[in-house]
Amino acid sequence: MKVLMVCLGNICRSPMADGLLRKKVREAGLNIEVDSAGTSDFHVGEAPDHRMRATAKQLGTPIDTLRARQFKQSDFSEFDLIYVMDSSNYNNVVQLARNDSDKAKVKLILEELQPGSAMEVPDPYFGGEQGFIDVYNMLDAATDVIMQKIQHG
Ligand code: 4NP
Repeated sequence: MKVLMVCLGNICRSPMADGLLRKKVREAGLNIEVDSAGTSDFHVGEAPDHRMRATAKQLGTPIDTLRARQFKQSDFSEFDLIYVMDSSNYNNVVQLARNDSDKAKVKLILEELQPGSAMEVPDPYFGGEQGFIDVYNMLDAATDVIMQKIQHG
């Protein structure tokens, strides 16, 4: 099982989702690979945003070692589940899908918390510190549900 988290820059939301799920998978002793990517190439090779890293560390899930990369079409072959943060990410990823099976792998991550809600993880990049705390808490809750699903179907 392989899970990919996707946002725009791969420096705020998706590395946080990646770090949280990685930690939970490791603590549960499961053999699940977790990665993240951005739909853009704006920040390729960079560490996560310093504000996201600070919040991540404060709240107990450091993500300092992650590095940004761009989403690519072959990720559809590599990963079983592709979680996107917002509808813009959804459209960008689905545009690269080769078939319905690729497309079916792509889900809004907050749909795991509230199915059918089309809720989005807001982009914290241009806002203040509270935005990063909110992102952490939303993704902490969503990755708890993902863990439950993985472990108990
Ligand atoms: P992310 O946030 O998609 O959560 O990583 C952003 C990071 C960078 C930019 C936008 C969003 N940017 O425009 O550079």
